[in-house]
Amino acid sequence: MRIDILTLFPNMMDMFFKESIVSRAQKKGLVEVCFHDLHDYSLTRYGSVDDYPYGGSAGMVMAVEPLANCIEELQSQRHYDEVIYTAPDGEMFSQPMANELSLKENLIVLCGHYKGVDERLREHFITKEISIGDYVLTGGELAAAVICDAVIRILPGVIGDEQSALEDSFQDGLVAPPEYTRPAEFRGWKVPDVLLSGDHSKIAQWRYEQALERTRQRRPELLKE
Ligand code: ADE
Repeated sequence: MRIDILTLFPNMMDMFFKESIVSRAQKKGLVEVCFHDLHDYSLTRYGSVDDYPYGGSAGMVMAVEPLANCIEELQSQRHYDEVIYTAPDGEMFSQPMANELSLKENLIVLCGHYKGVDERLREHFITKEISIGDYVLTGGELAAAVICDAVIRILPGVIGDEQSALEDSFQDGLVAPPEYTRPAEFRGWKVPDVLLSGDHSKIAQWRYEQALERTRQRRPELLKE
């Protein structure tokens, strides 16, 4: 998989992509993440890619031409399955969406800024608009990092223990059951006996019941879906 991230702040995500499981995935050749500084596509002497909105409202809008040039340059080199735009009014990001994106070959992720982008870009270039929550960030970079993290970690071979990605919260529409590690008793607080029993089917049943109960308590709307 290859992900091209179009951003005004390529260095902002350096730490995230150069550390962590995501960087290991890149070193293993399971994913290639490429950054493109949108200032390099500026049509002005000053390197700006934004302009005043028509109609005279406050704030700045990312201009259509530099962004279109950047996207078209990439599209002339390979086919992209999706051109994603991160925006608070996009479709809400979810585990099923991450699963779907993880099956793609090449993705472009455009990080929004200011008041957003010229609407013509959304109409003619963007194939998917994603929000990571009902709040407004200063830019789309954190949203792009969240999306990439959720997608990359489920690529085969990225997490050592394949099973563990499948057992994540939300993969089966339930939140995850509680987990314990050694010691079996701490300050009199004991690990549930069933987990020490060695009976795998009983343990699986217990985990399922716990996940169901937790979902009922914490995220009842997931059960209605
Ligand atoms: N850009 C600003 N806020 C955002 C959000 N909540 N999700 C995605 N992109 C954004």
